[in-house]
Amino acid sequence: NRDFLIAPSILSADFARLGEEVDNVLASGADIVHFDVMDNHYVPNLTIGPMVCEALRKHGVTAPIDAHLMVKPVDRLIGDFIDAGATYITFHPEASEHVDRSLQLIRDGGCRAGLVFNPATPLSYLDYVMDKVDMILLMSVNPGFGGQAFIPATLDKLREARRRIDASGRAIRLEIDGGVKVENIAEIARAGADTFVAGSAVFKAGSDSDPNRYDSVMRAF
Ligand code: DX5
Ligand code: ZN
Repeated sequence: NRDFLIAPSILSADFARLGEEVDNVLASGADIVHFDVMDNHYVPNLTIGPMVCEALRKHGVTAPIDAHLMVKPVDRLIGDFIDAGATYITFHPEASEHVDRSLQLIRDGGCRAGLVFNPATPLSYLDYVMDKVDMILLMSVNPGFGGQAFIPATLDKLREARRRIDASGRAIRLEIDGGVKVENIAEIARAGADTFVAGSAVFKAGSDSDPNRYDSVMRAF
């Protein structure tokens, strides 16, 4: 009996009203704030960095913040996100020269560490670092943009990741990111995910004028 967490991706929120958007989605039942960091180098888009994470903490956000680093190199930003109040810090192993060291940096900073796997990245990156991983994040789209379609091959990969987690005996969260919708979340959960990122499905829901616009989609999840 797994506990399921919903992590709205603020990539699809209204950046001009970010604090309010995060407050609203948490009030509607979100568990975690998924924070997408893109550098126009590792991925072809440019978003937000540690200053915005810190601003959300100063604004009063106490929920866990899940910083998904789509950046290369990663280590310097790890320190910045530790200082900025991130809870989880995840990075793509291909973007780090020294994966074990990057994981250790995150844990030494008191944050929870995770590896992110692109659709074509093998899970074998986990082989020698399973004891330093608190979260495994499987991308079900190619990273860089919200609003893309879920890649079905990720379901088998989720089952394989779940087997590895169960075999480890450790409490490692299994997160899925990309194309998660009300219509496919049950199937994704059956494949083994316990933490669900949803960007466009959440932030494009409801109407701008409704102060409780995210209530119904969050309830549907
Ligand atoms: C994509 C990001 C995702 C994105 C998901 O690179 O990592 O977190 O916001 O957006 P949706 O849920 O719209 O696919
Ligand atoms: Zn993400």
